[in-house]
Amino acid sequence: MLLTILLSEPLINPTELSGTLGLIATVVLTINMVLGMMISTSFKKTNSWLKLPATIKAIDLLNLHNYTAYIALFFVFAHIILIPLDAASKFTFWDIIWPVNAPHQPNIVLFGTFSLLALITVIITTQKWVKSKLGFRLWKNIHLISYGTCVLFVVHGLLMDPQLKDRPTDWIDAEKLLSEICGIALLLATIIRYKYYIYSTKK
Ligand code: HEM
Repeated sequence: MLLTILLSEPLINPTELSGTLGLIATVVLTINMVLGMMISTSFKKTNSWLKLPATIKAIDLLNLHNYTAYIALFFVFAHIILIPLDAASKFTFWDIIWPVNAPHQPNIVLFGTFSLLALITVIITTQKWVKSKLGFRLWKNIHLISYGTCVLFVVHGLLMDPQLKDRPTDWIDAEKLLSEICGIALLLATIIRYKYYIYSTKK
């Protein structure tokens, strides 16, 4: 009996694992965005930063910002690769490349696809040789699409049913709460970033 259950129920459900990896990607991307905003507002020169312990002040924010982008990309790829591996998801590999005919919530999945494409674009255009060919202004304008990317992946994470049963969002579910916290953190950080921009253009 126990053996039958063990064999029929896979130890790890790929869709469940995919959801967890999607959540990790969301958290890493949130950290990445906050780091980016800290760099662009010269946060290292503020009193709040200068008061921090030496070990924290030794952190190279630019390096961390770069690495977190690669880490997030890795988690997003892992997140999507797993979905078609679960036969019950009814997703094919084509559905994760172009999900317009995906078996579940195709429009919301498309939000995820666009955020992945935007993430790849930002990473490619930040490679030294591409960046130097683009010039600072064009590179920066492309980099700014990351704010749109955040809206896309937060909405995607909030509205996708992790069990792929097309259920409406359970807003107080622990996983959705994590996406909500990331969304709020990104919103607050963006407001502060915008205020800094207004302040620095008035100076
Ligand atoms: C930046 C890119 C992405 C992020 C941050 C992200 C994040 C997430 C999150 C947080 C969830 C909900 C998990 C839960 O509530 O337990 C989710 C679900 C889902 N995502 Fe993504 N996603 C991204 C890209 C994609 C892409 C490109 C696809 C497919 C083409 C995709 C397909 C799905 C599907 C099918 C689900 C529902 C099943 C599951 O939970 O795994 N996602 N995603």
